[in-house]
Amino acid sequence: MSKLLYIQASPRGNRSSSSDVASNYIEAFKAASADNTVTTLNVWDMKLPEFDAERLNAKYSFLHGQSPSDEEAAAWQEIVSLADQFKDADCYLYSVPMWNFSIPYKLKHYIDVITQPGLTFGFDPKTGFFGLVTGKPVTAIYSRGGEYGNAEAKGMDFQKPYLEMSLGFIGFREINSVIIEPTLADPDTVNNAIETAKKQATKLGATV
Ligand SMILES: Cc1cc2nc3c(=O)[nH]c(=O)nc-3n(C[C@H](O)[C@H](O)[C@H](O)COP(=O)(O)O)c2cc1C
Repeated sequence: MSKLLYIQASPRGNRSSSSDVASNYIEAFKAASADNTVTTLNVWDMKLPEFDAERLNAKYSFLHGQSPSDEEAAAWQEIVSLADQFKDADCYLYSVPMWNFSIPYKLKHYIDVITQPGLTFGFDPKTGFFGLVTGKPVTAIYSRGGEYGNAEAKGMDFQKPYLEMSLGFIGFREINSVIIEPTLADPDTVNNAIETAKKQATKLGATV
């Protein structure tokens, strides 16, 4: 039995190419074992807490090894719940459209909320930062209107490198990716890209 947490970052519902490909991963994951379960979080449907002064002060208190005030500790609880929900999974799936060369801001907000000292990462004065979400596989499905494979365009891709870096920071080492591109091309090209991505996603979902 394995618990998959699926984090969906497109607001486009069933018109989303990244969600479409992710559904093939999920189908294969469910088919692999009747006991496998999936929890879906669409970041556009979540009421994510603001990272306001109280929560920031709490974060800096933890970073500096101090105790937060009662108000700060109360504001921090919502963050703890969301980080606990995140950590409760055995494996992870992200579906992520490229927005202005990076990730949608709602996904960034989610990452800002769950990436916290003592919850998803720690700090050792001798060895530096270390991740606390370890030994779990993650797959990210990226969809982009353009193509970012060649050397010149690669430097404009802040979507995949950013997500991979932030996942690596909190401890992930097994990071798989599926890329759908270019989705703003002619229909044949788009269909081919989606079909190729679906095959890759199915393979990954079946073997997680
Ligand atoms: C706000 C916004 C910004 C976008 N920025 C980019 C971009 O910088 N580069 C790109 O190649 N495509 C960009 N696109 C196109 C999307 O990445 C593309 O349509 C993708 O396939 C959408 O995925 P989805 O169908 O899962 O939502 C943008 C789309 C939107 C809505």
